Amino acid sequence: MPKIEVSTHTHTHTLSHTRRVAAAMNWMNVEETLRRPLFWVGAFTVASLVLWVLYKLLSGFRIWVLGNGMLLYPKLGKWAVVTGATDGIGKSYAEELARRGFALMLISRSQDKLDDVARLLKEQYNVETGTIAVDFGRSDIYEKIEAGLAGLEIGVLVNNVGVSYDYPEYYLNIPDLDNFITNMVNVNITSVCQMTRLVLPRMAERSRPEHLLCQRHVPLPLLTVYSSTKAFVDFFSRGLQEEYRRQGIIIQSVLPFFVVTKMTRIRKPTLDKPTPDRYVLAELSTVGLQSQTNGYFPHAVMGWLTTKLVPIDLVIFFGARMNRVQRTGYLKRRKMRELRNGDALKND
Ligand SMILES: NC(=O)c1ccc[n+]([C@@H]2O[C@H](COP(=O)([O-])OP(=O)(O)OC[C@H]3O[C@@H](n4cnc5c(N)ncnc54)[C@H](OP(=O)(O)O)[C@@H]3O)[C@@H](O)[C@H]2O)c1
Repeated sequence: MPKIEVSTHTHTHTLSHTRRVAAAMNWMNVEETLRRPLFWVGAFTVASLVLWVLYKLLSGFRIWVLGNGMLLYPKLGKWAVVTGATDGIGKSYAEELARRGFALMLISRSQDKLDDVARLLKEQYNVETGTIAVDFGRSDIYEKIEAGLAGLEIGVLVNNVGVSYDYPEYYLNIPDLDNFITNMVNVNITSVCQMTRLVLPRMAERSRPEHLLCQRHVPLPLLTVYSSTKAFVDFFSRGLQEEYRRQGIIIQSVLPFFVVTKMTRIRKPTLDKPTPDRYVLAELSTVGLQSQTNGYFPHAVMGWLTTKLVPIDLVIFFGARMNRVQRTGYLKRRKMRELRNGDALKND
């Protein structure tokens, strides 16, 4: 037994000595590590990454969970002006702004559709409305619009009107290309610049928080002219925001992905393809929080994937593939329709 005790004691003594040596060596290792510049580079990188993720999570929570729903109310100015207000996203903006108590000036092409929307807003929300029927494809309409807006205290302008292709097509194969270019540039670009020219001075005069909303898409081959006009609107909005920020004017560039409207010909809403009502409700909560927004959380995730995570060349490549498939489908269907119509004519 004593033998064993002695042996145990000796063993314990050796162990504690070993631990002390190991601890001293560890400390020397730590000291050595701390002296290495690479350690600090690594530590700084990890800390920045953690802070960045935290910041993104907090600002995401602020935008997509809390939102800024209380900002857009008629205290900004009695009237809201919406272009392309008789269908799709524009009609939903008009309805939501009327629900918040704005009087609505609706500007679009067809007077009968304008009358229908104006009647609906009056009946449902009991707000004042006005209409201006113009074709934004023309460039001589702005005197008429200026006269229609005279004397209105405008709080919000939604630059929404826009046209796209009938189907994805190679630039030189677009039917009636000359007129197509003029029309698309007038509707998608000139309207934004001219409407802003007419409305912004009154907003700047009163120096109160006002809003101007624009829209654009992502760059897409076979929809090249369309996506380029939207890139213009995005640049225009962001540049203008910086010019007029100090006067309390909020200018927001809105970049939706697909929304269920006549333009997209998508009929069934899904999580990533919302109805215009759902899209607009989400989008209006981001006003004042983001000067460039996808407007709707699933679209923000898609925006992050296509602009930050996936290389842009890959996005363009797959965009082109998707549009080529759509083009082939459209042309096939058109051919079959023409054949059917031809047969029907022969039978007559
Ligand atoms: N839907 C989407 O997935 C999506 C995605 C990204 C961006 N956007 C952009 O969002 C905006 C609205 O799109 P949307 O899908 O809601 O379109 P939409 O359903 O086709 O509605 C377009 C509206 O603009 C009016 N309009 C069209 N051409 C006009 C012209 N030459 N003059 C006057 N008014 C005209 C239409 O009036 P009429 O009824 O008289 O034709 C209609 O009120 C567009 O700028 C579009 O580029 C849409």
